[in-house]
Amino acid sequence: MDSSFQKALFLERIDGAFYEGTRPIPKPGPGELLVKVKAFALNPADWKIQKIDMQVMKSFPHVVGNDTAGDVEEIGGGVQGWNKGDRVFFQAYFGHSDYAGFQEYTLVPADLAVKIPANITYEQASTIPVACMAPAYGLLAPAPLGAGLANATLDPQSDFSGFSALVVGGATSVGQFAIQLLKYLGFGQILTYASGHHSAFLKSLGATDIIDRKKYSLDQLPEVVGQLKSAPIKIVYDAVGNPETQNASNACTPDGETLVSSLPKQVVDFGNSGKKFFGPVAIAQFPDPEGSLREFGKVICGRLEEWVRKGVIVPSPVEVLPTGFTAIIGGLNRLENNQVSGVKLVGRPESA
Ligand SMILES: NC(=O)c1ccc[n+]([C@@H]2O[C@H](COP(=O)([O-])OP(=O)(O)OC[C@H]3O[C@@H](n4cnc5c(N)ncnc54)[C@H](OP(=O)(O)O)[C@@H]3O)[C@@H](O)[C@H]2O)c1
Repeated sequence: MDSSFQKALFLERIDGAFYEGTRPIPKPGPGELLVKVKAFALNPADWKIQKIDMQVMKSFPHVVGNDTAGDVEEIGGGVQGWNKGDRVFFQAYFGHSDYAGFQEYTLVPADLAVKIPANITYEQASTIPVACMAPAYGLLAPAPLGAGLANATLDPQSDFSGFSALVVGGATSVGQFAIQLLKYLGFGQILTYASGHHSAFLKSLGATDIIDRKKYSLDQLPEVVGQLKSAPIKIVYDAVGNPETQNASNACTPDGETLVSSLPKQVVDFGNSGKKFFGPVAIAQFPDPEGSLREFGKVICGRLEEWVRKGVIVPSPVEVLPTGFTAIIGGLNRLENNQVSGVKLVGRPESA
């Protein structure tokens, strides 16, 4: 293969097939890094965009992929603080092939890239960006993006030690980071609805009480939460985000308090309860005329290296897929068919 070309995973068209092909290696513009990809993680968004036209992919075939970790290969004009060979992780962007994650080399704006601290591997780093961004935007960002539980430098907005919080779907990748962020914010009690066999793991992240979803249905959740809560519920985070979990989460959210979801509002009707709802698209590079997604992405990226280095944020457990881009296709089928529990599927390019 010509050395100016690389392998990538393409989506043929909406409702079309994924396939491995080749394309030119992009050049970094001002403010950008070119990254040699060492590991990438799979997300539900990667199979959803095959079927749902989010109107951001303007031409096909298109490269997809979000979670990425690798080495800085080339540095664009005006970039400060980065060197060739630095280990880096970031939320890639599926809306532009040059910035998407499932390829050997990809571009990222330097202000949305995070240095990988020495305590984690490329594979572990790749589990963090997308799944951590969802609750980070939803819980920490100021309204109208999120619930505003943190201040401008992302320190806790106030003392939450006298409050309880609930995470529905604590074992999802997103839920694991929601629990860790609620612990960081200082909540006195963190209840979570998840499979009981994940109890020890979720407690290690900061959950205090596990409500076993194999034992209690979503219909029973409000009653069980009512029995277990040791303080007023201040916030409910629905990491699953489907109509059933959003409705159950709504039923657990007291009037006047806040429900945050990993997905936009599905069928929840608040009536006149005065509840607040946030379900942001937590993608820093997503089209946003006001620029607030990008601005908050920069703020989060400014704290993430420190949080990972200090263990405030720990990566998800990893299941490594066979090397190469075609292994992604089987992994996405498993995600779509709910055959992944408590781990992140991670792949590596053959050239990594
Ligand atoms: N807004 C954004 O930008 C953004 C970003 C990331 C993700 N998301 C969305 O967030 C959702 C979660 O993504 P993810 O990557 O975290 O998913 P994931 O890790 O692939 O989810 C798998 C997990 O879901 C759990 N689960 C399924 N149904 C459940 C239910 N009814 N109650 C409790 N747990 C349940 C399973 O639990 P068991 O272990 O018990 O099987 C399994 O551990 C997806 O819809 C995704 O599209 C949105």
